[in-house]
Amino acid sequence: MSLPKVYITRPVPSAAVERIAARYDVKMRPEDAPLDPAQLAESCREVEGLVATGARVVEEVIAQAPRLRVVANVGVGYDNIDVAACTRRGIPVTNTPDVLTETTADLAFVLLMAAPRRLVECDRYVREGKWQYSKWEMLWGTDIYGKTLGVYGLGRIGKAVAGRARGFSMRVLYHDVVRPAPALEQELGVQFVGRETLLREADYLTLHVPLTPETHHLIGARELALLKPTAFLINAARGKCVDEAALVEALESKRLAGAGLDVFENEPHVHPALLNMPNVVLAPHVGSATAQTRLAMAMLAAENLLAALDGRRPPNLVNPEIYASASSQ
Ligand code: DGY
Repeated sequence: MSLPKVYITRPVPSAAVERIAARYDVKMRPEDAPLDPAQLAESCREVEGLVATGARVVEEVIAQAPRLRVVANVGVGYDNIDVAACTRRGIPVTNTPDVLTETTADLAFVLLMAAPRRLVECDRYVREGKWQYSKWEMLWGTDIYGKTLGVYGLGRIGKAVAGRARGFSMRVLYHDVVRPAPALEQELGVQFVGRETLLREADYLTLHVPLTPETHHLIGARELALLKPTAFLINAARGKCVDEAALVEALESKRLAGAGLDVFENEPHVHPALLNMPNVVLAPHVGSATAQTRLAMAMLAAENLLAALDGRRPPNLVNPEIYASASSQ
């Protein structure tokens, strides 16, 4: 009897592949490159399990995969997956939270520091041989220590960024749709404020919200106008949470001091104006990109996949309603 098939959309660490291959017939796409939905649909026709590493799993893919029993996303954000379409078919969708929290918070903090201290410009200055002697006014930046950090979204990663800010004696304000218990606020040293206060008072505004219809263009022209002209925007969440054209306009008109961006509205396309701005530090969506964390993400995705294929509830289920409806039948 042939083993059920599992498809992995990009190369992932071999330990994760072996974990799955011990029980299933695994096919892993060898190219570490994007996959369009038609290609993905073609590869999923016979599969029962799909490990998606950044691939867009749209309704067309689900519809052409009659045997599909689980979509295990390698990533905490799952806006690349049509969860509603999976739910309609009773297919569990899973993600990989927790294992990437600290690594992604590190990257957000790296951007938060690199932009105001002009680290990329400094690096270029030295490499290009411009450092002939030390000038008094050479590459002056902006302080981080003691400033106000605005955390938009106090989930796992937002909390981890807030924790780092404490080491810099920053005042940490946050805004979120849900407010944790006062004891937790005290423990984290953070203060809840309304959305407008957050925008008005932050010296550094860092976004840590998932991409949903509600958070699409969460930061647009109106919000950018509320920020201080000395403020910096940090985005290591999702590019579509920011209206990139409005951001460019705010930066060009000096209504905003700078930005640190790991994510973009239409990745991998970056607004051309951003490429020429020395006060903006850019990274190619590498928030979780360390060897340890990527391994942990792949292993967790494998665990989620195996649980679902075994008929168990996967540990990191994002559409629990599929089980709720099964138990109420
Ligand atoms: C995540 O885990 O959501 C990262 O942004 C990778 O997509």
